[in-house]
Amino acid sequence: MTQSSRAGAVLVTGAAGFIGSHAAAALASTGRRVVGLDNLDPYYDPAIKRRNLSDLAAVSGFKHVEGDIRDRDLVRRLFRDERIDEVVHLAAKAGVRPSIEDPALYADVNVTGTAVLLDVAQRSGVRAFVMASSSSVYGARTDAPFRESDPPAVAISPYACSKQACELLGKTFAALHGMDVTALRFFNAYGPRQRPDMAIHKFSAQMLAGKPIPFYGDGSMRRDHTYVADVVAGVVRALDHAHGRGYRVYNLGNSVTVSLNDLVAALERVWGVRAVLEHLPASPGDVPLTCADGTLAADEIGYRPTTSLDVGVRLFAAWYQGLRT
Ligand SMILES: NC(=O)c1ccc[n+]([C@@H]2O[C@H](COP(=O)([O-])OP(=O)(O)OC[C@H]3O[C@@H](n4cnc5c(N)ncnc54)[C@H](O)[C@@H]3O)[C@@H](O)[C@H]2O)c1
Repeated sequence: MTQSSRAGAVLVTGAAGFIGSHAAAALASTGRRVVGLDNLDPYYDPAIKRRNLSDLAAVSGFKHVEGDIRDRDLVRRLFRDERIDEVVHLAAKAGVRPSIEDPALYADVNVTGTAVLLDVAQRSGVRAFVMASSSSVYGARTDAPFRESDPPAVAISPYACSKQACELLGKTFAALHGMDVTALRFFNAYGPRQRPDMAIHKFSAQMLAGKPIPFYGDGSMRRDHTYVADVVAGVVRALDHAHGRGYRVYNLGNSVTVSLNDLVAALERVWGVRAVLEHLPASPGDVPLTCADGTLAADEIGYRPTTSLDVGVRLFAAWYQGLRT
């Protein structure tokens, strides 16, 4: 059966957000009917999310519903009325530091929201359920690369803990109900529409405004930055491969690590501006390193990221400049 001849639709939660808006467009381009669900949560300016949605308005096969993933009645109606038969669950309270301020909210949105979606999906006969997890589930380790088969780590933020809990819920639903659930561990996604609280976006905004960058720690912290088009290609592949596979978990990283100092240097080259750093102590919840082993995702779903940080940062900069003109 071709995708366009399917009666059902894929539900993309968090479709107004950074990764979700790209994922919704990529899924629509496969011929799927795509229904977005997002409550335009105020974690960052909802006007940015409205702009993402207005970019999506031109995408054929996409429609958006504004609402909360924890609203069981709404979710139930949506699955029935839109004949949802696949789910890509990306909605969440993102961000490590704010989760330390309000752990209950992070547990409620991320864990309760995921439980509502899994439950309604299961009762509706949905089998393929792909959801966002995070490199933060690997905890504060310094040995690399991180493999999916590594023993569970101690999460060092309520956000990371909420993602571990979502993975466990997914595994439980797969075992209990025979659902096909895939958890995708994202590693610092960046590119057009990146969240304004994330390093590449935030640092660029401060540099171009001539303001100091709040710089936590000594700059030796290393991150595996993954370009959003690569991430989203992995999301589509994961959904295509989820059917009949039970519970799976994959790293979607770039497998190249860059120190915070080198990231600032790369941004200085792109913007032709010298960064001013406001040195602050390392922030609780921040892990020293993220680094994906991409072998399992390459072998099982054919995930192969192709965008280097230099290229990706230039693509981000082109988008960011477009916003300012
Ligand atoms: N961006 C990254 O590097 C990264 C890394 C690891 C994991 N993740 C995960 O990937 C997913 C997408 O992240 P993102 O960076 O695009 O974040 P984002 O904040 O841009 O997108 C999340 C979206 O979820 C929506 N949302 C929040 N609460 C909701 C609720 N109760 N009901 C409905 N919608 C709700 C928000 O309005 C937002 O548009 C999240 O699950 C995040 O935890 C992202």
